[in-house]
Amino acid sequence: MTILDFAKYKQDRRKITLVTCYDATTASLLDETSVDAVLVGDSVAMTIYGFNNTLKADIPLMAAHTAAVRRGNKNIFLIGDLPFLSYRKGPKETLAAAGELLKAGASAVKLEGGDSVVLEAVKAMVPAGIPVMGHLGLTPQSVNGMGGYRVQGKEALAAEQILTEALSLEEAGCFALVLECVPRSLAKKITEKLTIPVIGIGAGKEVDGQVLVIQDLLGETRGPLPKFVRSFSNGAAQIVKGVENYCREVREGSFPSIKESYK
Ligand code: KIV
Repeated sequence: MTILDFAKYKQDRRKITLVTCYDATTASLLDETSVDAVLVGDSVAMTIYGFNNTLKADIPLMAAHTAAVRRGNKNIFLIGDLPFLSYRKGPKETLAAAGELLKAGASAVKLEGGDSVVLEAVKAMVPAGIPVMGHLGLTPQSVNGMGGYRVQGKEALAAEQILTEALSLEEAGCFALVLECVPRSLAKKITEKLTIPVIGIGAGKEVDGQVLVIQDLLGETRGPLPKFVRSFSNGAAQIVKGVENYCREVREGSFPSIKESYK
């Protein structure tokens, strides 16, 4: 997968599949799947570190997880998330931040929003050879400004603004756009208007591809999940069962066996 393939998938109406990933072990398993690309999302702050939002992620953390994923999977197209504020301090700082992620193994970076500062950041990175993915709709780094995790673009004016920002991100040079938690009809409209692929999460099915957080799709996440998540596996039950089997066999003396011990 390259940025050219992203464009080709859209032309050919072939759905793009993306998952998040944060560690080398999982990344190596993804090499055995047909998933098209991996996002080292700043959701790492929540899924791996247990924070209640993504704001704690910074460049050293994102670079460490990007490098881990790259060590586990040499081939995959890997998008590294630029964390909170890292692309809002001017072009020089933005290039330095994105550079760290590319040096760690990312093939591209993602950033949130479509205001003038974000557009300036995109216009600094693209000519420097850094492919950029946009992210509109529910942008978790702005959770405080949005008053919580809620569906975006429900009112006509807000929908119009998301469409305008999407067009501006495309014009600035983004190769793809994530659209999170917006009404299906708005996602459809944006997908039709844009020539770059739109990857949805909570944006219905009339988009060019989907992305989900890997723990959510594997069914490992406990607690209430957003309406748009589907678990494709029973990860939580499998982990609990595996650890319980281990504890039982240790307690009853059947683990370790002779075969599992040294002479
Ligand atoms: O950080 C993340 O995992 C994301 C996806 C949910 C799109 O931005």
